[in-house]
Amino acid sequence: MNDLRTKIMEIAKRRGIFWKAYEIYGGLAGFYDYGPVGSALKNNILNLWREIFVISDSLIEIDSPNLGPEIMYIASGHADKFTDYMVKCQKCGHAFRADELLKDHIPDAEGLDADRLWKELQAHQIKCPDCGGDLTYPERFHLMFPTTVGLGKKAFLRPETAQGIFVNFPILYRLNREKLPLGVAQVGKGFRNEISPRQGLLRLREFNMAEIELFIDPEENFELDSFGEVKIPIKTRDGSESVLTAEEIAKRGIARPEIAYYMAKTLKFLKTLGIPENKIRFRQHHHNELAHYSQDTWDCEINLSLGWTEVIGISYRGDYDLKRHMDFSARDMTAIRRFKEPKKIKVKKVRPRMEILGPMFKSKAKKVAELLEKKEPSPAGIEVELDRKRMLITPEAYDIVDEEITVGGERFIPHVIEPSFGIDRILYAVLEFAYYERPETGYKVLRFPPKIAPIKAAVFPLMTKDGLDGIARDIKVKICGNGIPCYYDDSGSIGRRYARADEIGVPFCITVDYQTREDNTVTLRERDSAQQKRIPISALTSVLKSLVEGTKSFDDL
Ligand code: ATP
Ligand code: GLY
Repeated sequence: MNDLRTKIMEIAKRRGIFWKAYEIYGGLAGFYDYGPVGSALKNNILNLWREIFVISDSLIEIDSPNLGPEIMYIASGHADKFTDYMVKCQKCGHAFRADELLKDHIPDAEGLDADRLWKELQAHQIKCPDCGGDLTYPERFHLMFPTTVGLGKKAFLRPETAQGIFVNFPILYRLNREKLPLGVAQVGKGFRNEISPRQGLLRLREFNMAEIELFIDPEENFELDSFGEVKIPIKTRDGSESVLTAEEIAKRGIARPEIAYYMAKTLKFLKTLGIPENKIRFRQHHHNELAHYSQDTWDCEINLSLGWTEVIGISYRGDYDLKRHMDFSARDMTAIRRFKEPKKIKVKKVRPRMEILGPMFKSKAKKVAELLEKKEPSPAGIEVELDRKRMLITPEAYDIVDEEITVGGERFIPHVIEPSFGIDRILYAVLEFAYYERPETGYKVLRFPPKIAPIKAAVFPLMTKDGLDGIARDIKVKICGNGIPCYYDDSGSIGRRYARADEIGVPFCITVDYQTREDNTVTLRERDSAQQKRIPISALTSVLKSLVEGTKSFDDL
């Protein structure tokens, strides 16, 4: 582990951000707990995500189950294709993802088949990273967790939240009054039986996802609005890197406009979280790297201490998912494309011949004729159901005629753009860029932007006597009562209390001193500059609110 990662793991465990789960039983690889500080940080990241992606674009959000039936994952292609290649060490038995071992040697290892992986592993003389032993030939390893529901019905834990949205498309489309684009968001857990989860929050077997499925009509224009101006660092699959506006990316056909739009929004989101712009890029997948459902994918990568790391994937899934679910469920997954002007079109119509149906069906002939008119003929005839009996009506009982009808629209399967956010990887990136040590003292600070800081304020009495502690406790209660997370601390020197607050990224500390008793003011200390200002107690909550929301800066006070 590199230096920064070691330091973050240390502070994370000591201060209640995150730690390995089930430690009292020796842990379980790929599972982590978030502590009080980490849970609050995660919630704040998700709240910002909802603000930027869901609320401001009027998307709808749903919440579907973690477990799904096998048939759904056969339809989605995951049952067959959601695999990685695994190699094992012949000496120590440890397992590794074959492409991960080659990552530093070739650019597109993720897309290689077993033979190519094997050749590359040999060409680069890759051995077991743990003991130097020889590796086995790559074999496909399935990443979904299977389980059974009730008396043996096969099911899987979801590897993405997306399928819960796709299977609900007909309901969601109706709820959106049959209008596209329709954006549906879902926040929840994803589960993948990763081969070698060794990178803390970066590779978990149960992780937090925030996904959007944007259903579009591929023939409609998509407006980038003000996001068209945003400059975006990209690396296309030919390896070239450039910075282009979202509009240029769309106009030059480098990526679909919806993808360019989500790149621009993602940049805004990550910058608000405190990730420096020059540490972010969007990398296009190589053709052989694309997931089975994807026509084009761009990974948003952040340059962390261990190198460029994918945190978000933005994919163009075309009509793959809805089409497959339509085929497998026989439910209508189409939307309507309304024409500007009604169109006249020629259709083949079935015209029943009553002179034949009459003698055959007597009083039921009219009913049979109605059924025939609704059906598509096949060369053998038309199957109808009458009085719960199926029968084949052969072609001499009807004519096929050309008819001109006027239609207002046509049905089609919507296409999907999917930005998929890995919240744990984003949270880890936030920690890396928030972490620093004060040069004078070496004290550790997590410089979270106030908006996402888990705890916004701490209140300290200078002494626990002369009523200062009582005033401080009252202030703490008032701040918390206004919905601002805050705590009270009276142990140790003021310097130690500031240092403790800095370690969990509290942006504002309030100290009650003897002057407070005279003029009802307190000192307000800002974490990053360590500067202090005197503020009336009566103004504290509104000042804190505007500092947290960013409508005021500390300098404005
Ligand atoms: P990788 O290539 O690193 O395995 P992926 O391309 O399979 O990731 P996606 O399927 O695009 O990942 O998933 C969307 C997002 O979910 C990723 O960008 C990542 O942030 C997150 N994610 C995926 N797998 C994991 C995991 N095992 N642990 C934590 N986050 C993950
Ligand atoms: N929903 C995108 C993925 O998990 O692959």
